[in-house]
Amino acid sequence: MRVYNFSAGPSALPVPVLERAAVEMTDAYGTGQSVMEMSHRSKDFKPIIEKTEALLRELMGIPSGYRVLFLQGGASLQFSMIPLNLAAGEPGAAKKRAVYVETGVWAKKAAEEAAKFVDAVTLACSKDRAYAYIPEAPAPDQGDAYYHITLNNTIVGTKWAGLPETGQVPLAADISSCILSEPLDVAKFGVLYAGAQKNLGPAGTTIVIIREDLIGRAPSWTPALLRYDIHAREGSLYNTPPCYGIYIIGLVLEWLKDRGGVTAIAEENRKKAALLYDYLDASRNFRSPVEKPYRSLMNIPFVPADPDPERRSVQETRFVKEAAAAGLVNLAGHRLVGGMRASIYNAMPLDGVKALIQFMEKFEETMK
Ligand SMILES: Cc1ncc(COP(=O)(O)O)c(C=O)c1O
Repeated sequence: MRVYNFSAGPSALPVPVLERAAVEMTDAYGTGQSVMEMSHRSKDFKPIIEKTEALLRELMGIPSGYRVLFLQGGASLQFSMIPLNLAAGEPGAAKKRAVYVETGVWAKKAAEEAAKFVDAVTLACSKDRAYAYIPEAPAPDQGDAYYHITLNNTIVGTKWAGLPETGQVPLAADISSCILSEPLDVAKFGVLYAGAQKNLGPAGTTIVIIREDLIGRAPSWTPALLRYDIHAREGSLYNTPPCYGIYIIGLVLEWLKDRGGVTAIAEENRKKAALLYDYLDASRNFRSPVEKPYRSLMNIPFVPADPDPERRSVQETRFVKEAAAAGLVNLAGHRLVGGMRASIYNAMPLDGVKALIQFMEKFEETMK
């Protein structure tokens, strides 16, 4: 029996994608092989990677002056590759400044990693209220190498309501947990990146979308595998890419296109999120810790409203256990923040959210 999987990542994939992958497991596209067994340089794999890129370009409206790279190392490796490629200098050169907005744990990690190569300055931080909002930040200096944000904060469940004004400074954004969830104007960014394991496919592939003029700035000492220019020149085939992951992403993108693309899925996502937030706001026993203007469409944390921390902790443990027994799995909040969290990415159907709310209604009766 399939469960409703509310994991923040790796997360649920669309059932039609899994079924198609199963059918094609031993013979993909009449080649007599699984995509897992194909050479990445073969004539069989070429159309797969090309199709995945073309669909991503179409669905996200990626302009022609941008390159799409399929890399490994997760979103976390981009915390290093962005400063290395956009701002690091030759030995002895003055360090360039890059600016960060700290809206959660991932944003903080990104800045900490950058500080190893560049002068990473945190312009604003929302830790004072447990990252429950997106802070106002001062404008960057026009000489800054880039301006980094985490567009959707997976752990605390916030998202940027609008984009910061950065002038000439390229905007770099981690879109791991919101890629393809609603329309995004790619032209406003210098570089975008996302680990695949939430809205795109299995873990192991990282997508980077980068404006061409930002490619080729890495200092000479940068390891080859960490250079955007080498990956761009080689069409993501400098070394063996995560072939199977790229294939599954292609299937997910086809599924998304069939459903009407990003505009249509955004409407569904807003409906799903509104249902859950409205329920939480009306509930006497649960609440959302996130301030209203910044609430994520994808990751919805919630906590018992009980003021007593011990009773809360007991309720949380019982909730997660009983929900799992009812087929609603992975509802525990991130280990750093506790509570509960429902991640409702593109592949989570409206019925899954309705089932969760029904379960919560019943559970509330035992909380009084
Ligand atoms: C917003 C965000 N950035 C970065 C990461 C780290 O991603 P990875 O495990 O692919 O390195 C995550 C993981 O959940 C995330 O949610």
